[in-house]
Parts: sequence; C-alpha cells; structure tokens
Amino acid sequence: MKNRRYITTPLYYVNARPHLGHAYTTIMADVVKRHYTQRGDEVVFLTGTDEHGEKIAQIAAREGKAPQQLADEVSADFKETWEKMNLSFDIFYRTTSPSHVAAVREALTLLKSKGEIEFREYEGNYCVGCERFLTDTELTADGTCADHQKKPEHRKEGNYFFLMSNYQQKLIDHLESHPESIRPDQYRGEILSFLKNEKLGDLCISRPKSRLTWGIELPFDSNFVTYVWVDALLNYLAATGWPDAQKYDEKLWNEAVHLIGKDIVKTHSVYWFSILMALGVKPPKSLNVNGYWLIGGTKMSKSLGNVVRPLDVEGTYGRETLRFYLLREMSYGNDSTFTLESFVNSVNAHLANGIGNLCSRVLTLCQKNGVTQVPAGAKLESADQALLDRRAQALQEWNAAFEELKYQNAVKSWSELVTACDLYINEQKPWALAKDPAQSGRLHTVLTVCMQVIEALGVLIYPVLPEASLKICGALGLETPDLSAVTRAEVRAFPAIAEVPKLFMRIALPAPEADSKA
Ligand code: MSP
Repeated sequence: MKNRRYITTPLYYVNARPHLGHAYTTIMADVVKRHYTQRGDEVVFLTGTDEHGEKIAQIAAREGKAPQQLADEVSADFKETWEKMNLSFDIFYRTTSPSHVAAVREALTLLKSKGEIEFREYEGNYCVGCERFLTDTELTADGTCADHQKKPEHRKEGNYFFLMSNYQQKLIDHLESHPESIRPDQYRGEILSFLKNEKLGDLCISRPKSRLTWGIELPFDSNFVTYVWVDALLNYLAATGWPDAQKYDEKLWNEAVHLIGKDIVKTHSVYWFSILMALGVKPPKSLNVNGYWLIGGTKMSKSLGNVVRPLDVEGTYGRETLRFYLLREMSYGNDSTFTLESFVNSVNAHLANGIGNLCSRVLTLCQKNGVTQVPAGAKLESADQALLDRRAQALQEWNAAFEELKYQNAVKSWSELVTACDLYINEQKPWALAKDPAQSGRLHTVLTVCMQVIEALGVLIYPVLPEASLKICGALGLETPDLSAVTRAEVRAFPAIAEVPKLFMRIALPAPEADSKA
C-alpha cells in the first residue's frame, strides 16, 4: 500500500499578482511533493486563490471592476504562473466555486446547530490588510499593525461569533501532545505561549451586508456574509470531499500538511484548529511554517511595493534557477534576504560551475572516448568504491533533510557529492588515461564510475530541478528518476552518450545603466 500525503499551500488573495513570496511557498510544496512521489508515496498537492472579503471588494471598486471579474483575472494569473513554472499541483481551488460555497454554508449550519455560534455586539480594531480584529498586544507602540504599517480601523457592530474561547485549553493540550503540529518548533512555542498567557476571545465570523456584500451569505441570516478567514480555511477540508459522507476522503484529510508563511500561523492554528475541533474533525497533521523573503530589510509584499516577479526571474536567468536559489538560501522557518547579486553568485557557483560543469565534463569525455561500461574483468579500486559509497550517504542525508524540514542540507549533500566527484576526476586524470592505450581499461572504469555518480545526482536533484534531472536521466538512458539508481551496488552499463545535455549557463547581473549625462 502506498503512503498517501496531502500537501497544501495557502490560498492566495486575489488582490495581488503572484510574487516571489507566494512562489516560495508554492515551490516548496512542489519540491516536497516530488520528493515523496519519488519515494513511492501518492501525494495530493492543493493550491488556489482566496477570493472573498473586504480587501478584494475594495481593490475591485478602485479598479472599477466587479469583484468576481477581478477574482477571475487574478486567479487565472496565479494558475498560469504556477503552470508556467512547472509546479505540479493537483487541485487549484477557488473559494468562489459553488461547491466551496455549499461546504462553507454546511459547516456554519453545523456549528450553529451545535451551539458554537452566538450573536452579539462587538467593538475592536480591524486591520483590513490582515482581514481580522487585532488584539492590543498585536499593535505596535504607536497603535499600528506591524505587518501592514497602517493604523487599524475602530469598529463597533452586531455580529455572529464562534465561541472560540471554549477551546483555549483544548488547543494547548493538542499542541502539547502533538509536537509535529506546528513546525519548526519555534512557532509552536510562540502559539503555546500566546495561548497560555492571554485570554482567548471568541471569533467574529460574520460581516454585515450593509458594509460588505462580497462573501458567502450566512445560512441562518441573510443580512450577513461569512468572515473571509472562516470561508477560506474551510477549503482544505472541503477539497477532500467533506461534508459529503460519500465523497469525504478522511484518510487523505488525516495526512494533511499545510505549508504556510509565518504571517498566518495564528489563523491556521488557533482559528482553524478550534473550528475543526468544533466540527468534530481532527486538526491537520502539521503546519509547516516558512519565514519571509525580505527585500532591503522589509517583507516583500504588494502593499509595500517591493516585489520580485518569479516569471521575470525565470525569463531572464533560466528555468529552475529560482527554485534552486530559494531552496538553498533560506533556512526553513527563518527570514532571508533576496538580492540579485546573491542569486547570480549562487546559480553560477553551484549550478553552472557545480553540477552543470561536472556533467558536461564527464559526459563529453565519455562521448569522445566511446565509454559505456566497466570492461569485463576490470576491478574497482578503493577510490572508485569510496566515491560510489558517497552516493548512498547522499540519499540518506537527502531523506533526513526532508523529514527535518532542513532543505538546505539536501542541496548541501548533493553539492558535496559534486565536489567529491570533481576531486576524484582530478586525481584519476581521465584525460591523461585517454592518451595511453595501455590505460584504456582504467579510463573506461573511471568514467563509468563517474557516470554512475552523475546518474545518482540526476535522480537526487529531481525534486528541486526536475527538468535538469530528466535531461541527465535521459542522456544516461534512465526513463524515470528512480531512487534505486542511487543505491544500486553494481556499476551498470550505460548507453553511448548521443548528446551532452546543456544544463545551466553562467549568468550575469544586468550591466549598470550608462550615465545619461556623461
Ligand atoms: N488568503 C490568505 C491565506 C488563506 S489560506 C486559507 C493569505 N493570502 S496571501 O496572498 O497574503 O498569501 C500569504 C502567503 O504567501 C504567506 O503565508 C506565505 O506563504 C506567502 N508569502 C507572501 N509573501 C511572502 C514573503 N515575502 N516571503 C515568504 N512567503 C510569503 O494570507
């Protein structure tokens, strides 16, 4: 039986076009999916767009569009961008789809019938950027929202409330007894400390239609629409077929891992987990939390106007380079700064000069000398065996990196294999062996060992660099990037190298603009 996994990204708001911050979480989901697929698991990857709420209604009004039109345009942009970036999502979910609207209404009906929802007057500070009421402790000293650098609006209105305060202790118990519930652990610590030190309030789950009509109407009061976070969070569960007993894939739901940024840990742990508990559904297995990509010291975001577009980077600097850079440069969970200089340096050092150069060096030598296999009777020397052993170690490091969310270690382990192979080539000097007909047997052995290492690299890089992986595998006659190629003990025979694949070019920063006054 295959293991099943369910990996989700946040549903992105349709108020902004896809930028590198959104791309990071979506790329990570793709990398994780490809990794587990390669290990033989069956993985369902969900992404999509969050289309209701005040923020979207405001932008649509500003642009003179109906909210649905704006949602259609921007949602299509997200979908196309992810497709162009070769991200292998299985479900592209939209919160304006009729099936989602029906699921949200059913969830609310159920919560109301269980006595989990109450009507009351509410007064508080609402940040439209966050789409939620902020507590006093969440505001900076001068009363602004730190994420959006704006003062929230003071609001007082009658609304429906989910009795979230009843779940304070249950949430604490859940997080304490499930160490994997929020990862890396620092974020679980933060939420636990919040839950232990502050009184949890109830959650306002409605917006009066007098103020906002762009949302899902409450099933029990047509004067209100559903608060956008409650609407959006339900996507993860509704996509598994819930609440339709015939369609609900509970086993898949039990494997849910939500990939999110650190800005939305509270909504995903406190709001979402308690809503699920109230519905009688298990909270997801894990929230995997990434830090921010910063530009010039601040978070990249549309409202701050400092965004990098993923397709621009790919268009200028080549496919997959961005995936590699983002994975290699960010220690998962922490913030990291994006600069074009570090991007160019990283691609040149590790892709063009690293794996790209090694592959073309070895495969060109194999092609020139007609090398395909270790000659009959030739024995492997200890240096050959040591290099082959290094491959299996890379696979172990690779698996551990994914289990521990230490993705940088995965890249580190393959870089070390590249270095080990470069060193082996420098020591074995195949170019010198090629000049001496008496050394022909040794030349074939050395280059075949190298091909076997390159084959392993081709397989190992698949989750991060799928296109390059398939090019390498193709050149070596391997149909799929099968992990058994990394552990195979005997050195196999390879097909003659017909064409040396071109993998990564060296790239350069754009030339500084000429001074027009000069
Ligand atoms: N619509 C909500 C999520 C609802 S999920 C049920 C939302 N959308 S968002 O468009 O603002 O996307 C936020 C997510 O995008 C972050 O949680 C993170 O995954 C990603 N990122 C956006 N900017 C980012 C950075 N600058 N750096 C890293 N990730 C970032 O919140």
